Amino acid sequence: MAEAPSANTTLRLAGKIAIVTGGASGIGEATAHVFANEGVRKVVIADIQDELGNQVAMSIGNERCAFIHCDVANEDEVQNLIQTTVNTYGQIQLHLHPNMAETPSTNTSLKLSGKIAIVTGGASGIGETTARVFANEGTHVVVIADIQDALGEQVAASIGDQRCIYVHCDVTDEDQVQSLIQSTVNTYGQIDIMFSNAGIINSTNQTLMELDMSKLDRLLAVNVRGMALCVKHAARAMVEQRVRGSIVCTGSTSGSHGGSRSTDYIMSKHAVLGLMRAASVQLATHGIRVNSVSPNGLATPMTCKLLKMSEENAQEVYKNVARLEGVLLTPKHVANAVLFLVSNEAEFITGLDLRVDGGLVYGK
Ligand SMILES: NC(=O)c1ccc[n+]([C@@H]2O[C@H](COP(=O)([O-])OP(=O)(O)OC[C@H]3O[C@@H](n4cnc5c(N)ncnc54)[C@H](O)[C@@H]3O)[C@@H](O)[C@H]2O)c1
Repeated sequence: MAEAPSANTTLRLAGKIAIVTGGASGIGEATAHVFANEGVRKVVIADIQDELGNQVAMSIGNERCAFIHCDVANEDEVQNLIQTTVNTYGQIQLHLHPNMAETPSTNTSLKLSGKIAIVTGGASGIGETTARVFANEGTHVVVIADIQDALGEQVAASIGDQRCIYVHCDVTDEDQVQSLIQSTVNTYGQIDIMFSNAGIINSTNQTLMELDMSKLDRLLAVNVRGMALCVKHAARAMVEQRVRGSIVCTGSTSGSHGGSRSTDYIMSKHAVLGLMRAASVQLATHGIRVNSVSPNGLATPMTCKLLKMSEENAQEVYKNVARLEGVLLTPKHVANAVLFLVSNEAEFITGLDLRVDGGLVYGK
């Protein structure tokens, strides 16, 4: 469907035209309401329960919602649904002057209001962007934990002293991880969110038969041991204080398939998914959710250094291997996925590996 005109609002579906089949009842009805509250220009409810469907559309409001009878088992009716929607709203949309767009009410509240969050590897790349997204979504404080002190201090200062601090923490060292958790709890009272994201990749090819074992040991120490330490100590603090917190680990599409090189990295990201899954089972009884995000390759300082390329050139490389057309994977896409997982919107989601890969993993 054509991109809808911007209605200049922070609502997430501002100006969009949406169809919800089975929208007269249950999950479909609830979703139609959520869409309407998020600013859709029109949500079309398609169902066979005419009376109920019309009632739901009326309760949402005729300007924002319409009901169309449609039995999804009948191709003619489905075609008619799509055609009517495009005829009625598609053309209007194309000719609509932006000023004529409806301005939905702005009743959004910040998603992480008052939360205490830790972001490991927050001095750079995905971690840095996520720390900024967390702060913009109202966290009380974001603690950036990293080993790049100057950069970490800079990022914290640019977010603002009141909302972000930097703590030196090498995630491979259990004492330092414990101290990070303890100082956060002592200063701010508790930990609500742990984004365990710090990771490295080796610049050598690391093909199986030429594995450099000391490089492998170092990589596993950061990507696996460090990840486990952060999850372990954040979980302990959450359990001790009865906080129904949220933990997200950074995996990778390398955690779901093999590859011709980077054997150690592939091994480490498989382990991250194993850690996430075990932790999600074990912490569920405490109401703590554990998930992961798995991006495909994207330009960050880590990959620019690996490829020995500028950000623009690295982006070009990843663009050429991407499957999804029209959008380039950036740290913000990953940060938004993390935001979803740690927010109340994902209240019932645990044990999920959310791939941010533009569908690349299928067909590999
Ligand atoms: N960039 C990609 O293509 C890509 C794709 C999939 C997954 N990832 C994963 O995303 C995560 C973030 O990577 P990025 O691409 O943003 O790279 P990045 O290098 O920009 O950021 C990683 C951060 O981790 C920090 N770090 C490294 N070792 C550490 C340690 N021992 N203790 C504490 N901090 C440490 C670094 O200083 C750096 O600030 C990593 O886990 C990486 O494996 C990246």
